[in-house]
Amino acid sequence: MKIKNICCIGAGYVGGPTMSIIAQKNPHIKVNVVDMNSDKIAAWNSENLENLPVYEPGLSEVVSEARGRNLFFSTEIEKHIINSEMIFISVNTPTKTHGEGKGYAADLKYVESCARQIAAVSKNDKIIVEKSTVPVRTSEKIKEILTSNKLNINFQILSNPEFLAEGTAMRDLEIPDRVLIGGDSTPEGQKAIDSLVEIYSSWVPKSNILTTNLWSSELSKLTANAFLAQRISSINSLSELCEKTGADIEEVSKAIGMDSRIGNSFLKTSVGFGGSCFQKDILNLVYISRSLGLKKVADYWEQILIINVHQRDRFSKKIIDCIKSNNLKQKVLLLGWAFKKNTNDTRESAAIYVANNLINEMIEIDVYDPKVSEDQVIDDLSNLNSDYDKTLVKFIHDPFSNISEYNSIAILTEWDQFNDYNWKMVFENIKKPAYIFDGRNILNVDKIKKIGFNYFALGRK
Ligand code: NAD
Ligand code: UGA
Repeated sequence: MKIKNICCIGAGYVGGPTMSIIAQKNPHIKVNVVDMNSDKIAAWNSENLENLPVYEPGLSEVVSEARGRNLFFSTEIEKHIINSEMIFISVNTPTKTHGEGKGYAADLKYVESCARQIAAVSKNDKIIVEKSTVPVRTSEKIKEILTSNKLNINFQILSNPEFLAEGTAMRDLEIPDRVLIGGDSTPEGQKAIDSLVEIYSSWVPKSNILTTNLWSSELSKLTANAFLAQRISSINSLSELCEKTGADIEEVSKAIGMDSRIGNSFLKTSVGFGGSCFQKDILNLVYISRSLGLKKVADYWEQILIINVHQRDRFSKKIIDCIKSNNLKQKVLLLGWAFKKNTNDTRESAAIYVANNLINEMIEIDVYDPKVSEDQVIDDLSNLNSDYDKTLVKFIHDPFSNISEYNSIAILTEWDQFNDYNWKMVFENIKKPAYIFDGRNILNVDKIKKIGFNYFALGRK
């Protein structure tokens, strides 16, 4: 099928950037990104590119090139479903909060409602592309819903999971390690796969486009995230062992990563991984395994999450114990709120949990993040703990505006600017004794200690 019109349902962190690149690289295809959230669509259409709803380095340049040419953002969902030959479903798939599988299984209500809407309004054959991360065999459910449309329409379903990481999304989309496309092995399924391969081939070498059956594609996405998270929990568990033995986690990580069979990425110790996906995708994997009676497999993957919570909690405890035992000011400056640098996304950020742990001990916090808004910080804390004491939290626009009011600073996101601060000047103004708790191991230990700070990093003395 020759694709001239694409509709993407979901204008979030994946739908927005992914469709921007597809439109940029395929000027002959009209790409309409639709969403039920009209504020979000208005933000995608805002003239000032600083107001796009997603902050990603390089995104505004691509949007400014393609928007209005062949890239459009709209709330007219039905119209664009009807007019498109290919529809991407790129909506959220959070963990279920009620019903069967509560706390573990992926909630497919948004995906299913897209399928119902497509079934209700479609008048001709379409290729439906699962872009959202979903449990293995979800495409079967989508097919069931679509075929409830009694008109004799041929829907081909493809799985095309997204592997971009936030903060580097544009680079990841521009030069992906691989594009994965799963589809039916029937001749119609093969034709649908070819149509999507052609779109990606505009800029991705054919050798990097991997085609598989539907189930392999769906399961590969979940497991790729589980593998990445597993490396972080492994290195984080070793950071605690380093603290007990005198080994240095940065040296250990380097030594491990130099083994070409292991490789050096995803071996950076941290206060714990965050982001919207690692936790939910592992919970989903655990749920699937347990549902299939694979208890040992489920327990194995669940351990990754147990270590992640432990890392956040033990980092918080370090700060709390130090404040209490040294009788320090019960007020801390938190640098960073986003779950990683170069994004404004805070979903599941370790900072939220550390902040909550401190507040629960009646420790005041001042929060600074270069890209996160005050409202977001309030929302995040309220969602975790609706009764939190709001008088204990202040959001500040200048990181050092209240520096004389605390002894302690905690670094929770690895923003480059934190490394570039004039720490000597900070030391001159902060209360003494002064402490830095570096939850990202970004500062130079020797320099910071030489300035006079007491410095607590992860996995190193
Ligand atoms: P998001 O919450 O940023 O965006 C989802 C959007 O879908 C929202 O704007 C919501 O309003 C919209 N939506 C939901 N149901 C709708 C409907 N029926 N009609 C119209 N709009 C609807 O989510 P995201 O981060 O873009 O993630 C989307 C999917 O991609 C998830 O399954 C996620 O696991 C996966 N994923 C995310 C990332 C990432 O970095 N965020 C990376 C790879 C894969
Ligand atoms: C992750 C995957 O990297 C993407 O491939 C995937 O598409 C995406 O999830 C998804 O499905 O949503 P993302 O969560 O955006 O991407 O960012 P990562 O770079 O993976 O970082 C996740 C978390 O792990 C962050 O909190 C980060 O600070 C932390 N991290 C990462 C570490 O603590 N140490 C590391 O070595 C790497």
